[in-house]
Amino acid sequence: MHLQTVLILSAIFLCNAKLPRLRQHVPELPQYLAQNSHSSIREELTKYLAQNSHSSIRDELPKNLAHNSQSSIQDELPQYLAQNSHNSIIERRNERTNRIVDQYRTRHRRESFNSRSYESGLVWAHTERLDDSGDVILRWVNTDSSITFRLEARTRGYVGLGFNSARNMRKADLVVAWVDDTHGNAQILDCHGLAFEDRAVADEVQNYELISGFQNDTHTTVEFRRQLDTCDKQDTVIGEDTLQVLWALGPEGSDGQLPRHVQSGSRPLRLLQPLAKPDSIPLKHWDVRISNFTIPHVMATLFWCKVFKAPELTRKHHIVGYEPLIDSRPIRSGIPVMEKNSLSPVHHMVLYECNEDHDKRQWNKWSESEGFLGPSRPGELATCATPIAAWAMGSKGEFLPENVGIPLGEKGGVSYYMLEVHYDNQELHQFLDNSGIRIHYTSSLRAHDAALLGAGVGVSALHMIPPKQRAYSTVGICSPECTNNTMPEEGINIVSVLLHAHGTARKISLKHIRGNEELPRISEENNYDARYQQSRIVPGGRRFFKGDTLITECTYDSSSRDKPILGGYSATQEMCLSFVLYYPRTELAGCYSMTPVVEFFETFGVKEFYGLNMMEVEKIFLSSGTLDSLPPQLEANIREHSVDGMQGDDQGVGLMKGLVIKDPPEFRNKTFMAHLNEMPWVEPLLTEQIEKTLSKGWHMTFCKRRDDSWGAPIQIQNYPNFTEITRNEASEKSCNYKSVRLPSMTTTGGTASRNTLAAAILAVCIPIIVLR
Ligand SMILES: *[C@@H]1O[C@H](CO)[C@@H](O)[C@H](O)[C@H]1NC(C)=O
Ligand SMILES: *[C@@H]1O[C@H](CO)[C@@H](O)[C@H](O)[C@H]1NC(C)=O
Ligand SMILES: *[C@@H]1O[C@H](CO)[C@@H](O)[C@H](O)[C@H]1NC(C)=O
Ligand SMILES: *[C@@H]1O[C@H](CO)[C@@H](O)[C@H](O)[C@H]1NC(C)=O
Ligand SMILES: *[C@@H]1O[C@H](CO)[C@@H](O)[C@H](O)[C@H]1NC(C)=O
Repeated sequence: MHLQTVLILSAIFLCNAKLPRLRQHVPELPQYLAQNSHSSIREELTKYLAQNSHSSIRDELPKNLAHNSQSSIQDELPQYLAQNSHNSIIERRNERTNRIVDQYRTRHRRESFNSRSYESGLVWAHTERLDDSGDVILRWVNTDSSITFRLEARTRGYVGLGFNSARNMRKADLVVAWVDDTHGNAQILDCHGLAFEDRAVADEVQNYELISGFQNDTHTTVEFRRQLDTCDKQDTVIGEDTLQVLWALGPEGSDGQLPRHVQSGSRPLRLLQPLAKPDSIPLKHWDVRISNFTIPHVMATLFWCKVFKAPELTRKHHIVGYEPLIDSRPIRSGIPVMEKNSLSPVHHMVLYECNEDHDKRQWNKWSESEGFLGPSRPGELATCATPIAAWAMGSKGEFLPENVGIPLGEKGGVSYYMLEVHYDNQELHQFLDNSGIRIHYTSSLRAHDAALLGAGVGVSALHMIPPKQRAYSTVGICSPECTNNTMPEEGINIVSVLLHAHGTARKISLKHIRGNEELPRISEENNYDARYQQSRIVPGGRRFFKGDTLITECTYDSSSRDKPILGGYSATQEMCLSFVLYYPRTELAGCYSMTPVVEFFETFGVKEFYGLNMMEVEKIFLSSGTLDSLPPQLEANIREHSVDGMQGDDQGVGLMKGLVIKDPPEFRNKTFMAHLNEMPWVEPLLTEQIEKTLSKGWHMTFCKRRDDSWGAPIQIQNYPNFTEITRNEASEKSCNYKSVRLPSMTTTGGTASRNTLAAAILAVCIPIIVLR
C-alpha cells in the first residue's frame, strides 16, 4: 500500500495539453537536400530526381553493356545516357562511362574465370535453399574474418545475391555473377542498391573475389568470397544479426548483359550462427500433436491446450531437440483439403512440463480429452509452467548443444506435458489441424540437465507501443531478488537464447547486470525478423550468478501504424520475451515484469475510471484480464469492444477499450482506448517521456516457480541503476575504409591493385531484386 502511494506521487503527469507543440520534423525534400551535408545521399537523390521523368528508359539498359566486346559498351552506353534528359548529368556521365569501361577492361583481365571443371573442394558448413522449390541453393563456410559462398542456381543467365536489413534491394549490398555461354568465363561484380530506386550500381571498391564459376545445361554455379567486414560503406557487415538474404536470376542467355531478372526473392538468415547438429547415434522420437481439431473460421486468435502422457520410460532420458510438425488443412465446402502453399495458422507452440499432483487419474483423463480452450482450461493446468520446447513461426526446430539435454522420464512412471498451440487466423478460414512438435530424445545421457526459463515483459495490454515511432523501446526485468531466491550458490550457465517478439520488433537484446555494472550482452539481435525465429547460441556460454539481473529489451518500429499497439498473444499485438536455455536446472520457470497499473494510467494523465477503482483494475490485469464479477454495464462494454469476443486470452485488451475515464475532466466520458488513440504521438517530447517513464521507471516483477508458486513475492521496484556498456565487445573495431584487401588467391592473377579501380558508379547492374 505504501509503495503504491509513493508510486502515485512520483508518477509524472504528462498529458496535460500544456506540452509545447513542436513543428513537424520532416523537412521538405529540397530543403533536406540543401541542408544535408552527406554528399553521397545528395548525389543519389539528385540522380534519382533527374532520372525520374524517364522511368521507361531507366528500365532498359543497353543490351550488351557488360559484354566481352568493349566496343559495344562504348557504343551503347553514351546512347543510353543521351536518352536521359539533363545535359550536365550527361557530361558527368560520359566521364564516368569511360571509367566504367576501364573498370570492365581491368575486370575482364583479372577476374574472368575459365573453369568448367574447377571446384574449390571446400567443406560447406551451411546449406540453405533460398527459394521454396530449391532452385537457388546457397552454401557457405566462414573463418573469423572472411566468408566463402557457393551459389547454385537454376539459370543459364546471371545470378544475384544480396544482403540487406530490409526485404528489398534499396541500399542493399549486392553481388552479381554469371558464366558466359560462349567462352565459359565466369565473372563477378560487387554492386549495391540505390537508396531511392530499385536499381543496382557497381561499388566503387570491388570486395568480392571469384574462386570458380561454371555452368551446365541447367545450372550456374559460382564460388566466391569476401571479408565479413569489408570496411566498405557500400557493403553490409556480415555479423551476428539476422540478414535478409536476397536472390535474383537473370533470363536465359543473359550472360554479359544484365536485363531485368526473371525471378527473385528473399530469406532471413543468420550466416554466422553455429549450428547444433543432431547426434550421430540414433534418436528416439515422441510426437506431441493435436489430432483432428477444427479451427472455427470465426476466431482470429485461438489458444488450444492439450495434455499428453509422456512415453513410459524406466529411467531418465535426455531431450536433445525438436522439430515442428505442421499439418493444417483448409476446409473447403466441408472437406479438409491438402493445399500446396496454403499458410498454416499455427503461430507458435510451446510444450510445457506439468508439475502434476498425485491424482494421476484426473491427469490421465485430461490426456485422453481433445484439449481445452486456453482461457477455460482446468486450473490445475497452470502447473504446466516449465517450457520444454518453444517453437515459433519460421523456425525449423532446434537441436541442443552437445553438452546439455532436457530430462525426460526422470521421475520414473508416468508424467504429463501440455502443448499450447497459438493459432493466428486473421484471415478467418476454417482449418482441420493436426500440428504439433516432434521431440527427439536419447538414452545416452549428456553432461548436464538443462531447462528453459522464460523472461521479458509480462504479456498484457499494458505493454503498449505508440504509433509513429521509428525506435521505441520496452524492457522486462528479471529481478535480483528472484534470481537470488531461486538459483544455486554457484549460479547457472546460459547456453542459448530464443528471442521472441512480433512483427514491429526490430531489435531485441538480453542484458546481464551484476551489481551496478552491465556485463556484455548475452544475446543481441539488431535486425529482428519475426518470420525467422531460431535460437542463438551464446558463444562460450555465460555464467549467471544468483542476485544478477536479466533485462530483455525490445525496440519497435511502429512508424507505419496509426494506432497504438497493445501487448498480447495475437500476431497483431506485441510481445517481448526471451527463452533462456541453461544448466543446471533450477526451480525457476518464468521471470517477468510489467508497468504497475496505477503508474501506467497516470503516465497517460488518467486518474480515475467510472465503475472500477485502480486497485480493482490492477486485479483484473494481474489475472490476465479475466472478467469475473465486473459491474454488468462495464462487462457489457468490454464484451462489445473485445476483438475476439471472450474466446482468446484477452490480457486486458477488452478492459482498455471498455474503461471510461472519470477524472481528469478534460478526458471525461472517453474510453481509455479512445484517449490513447487521440494522443499526439508525433510529438517526440511526449513519446520520449512516455518511453522513459514506462521502461526506465517502475516495474512490477513476477517470479514464477515450476510448480506455479512464487519464487519471490510480487514487487514494485525501480529500473536498476547500472552503467550501460556503450557498445557490445565484438562490434568495437577500427576500420580503415577502403584499405582492406582480401589476401590474394592463387587462382586470380594480375598486378593492378583492386583498390585503385576507378570509382565508377553507374547502371551496370540493373534492377535485380524487387520484392513485394
Ligand atoms: C548442374 O549443376 C548443378 C549445380 O551444381 C547440379 O546440381 C546438377 O546436378 C548439374 N546437372 C548436370 C546435368 O550435371
Ligand atoms: C482424424 O480424421 C481422419 C478422417 O476423418 C481419420 O481417418 C483419422 O483416424 C482421425 N485421426 C484421429 C487420431 O482421430
Ligand atoms: C539473497 O538471499 C540470501 C539468503 O539466501 C540473503 O541473505 C541475501 O540478503 C539475499 N540478497 C539479496 C540481494 O536479496
Ligand atoms: C459524461 O456522461 C455523464 C452521464 O453519461 C453526463 O451526465 C455528463 O454530463 C458527461 N460529462 C461530460 C463532460 O460530457
Ligand atoms: C546510480 O549509481 C551511480 C554509481 O554507482 C551513482 O553515482 C548514482 O547516484 C546512482 N543513481 C541513482 C539514481 O541512484
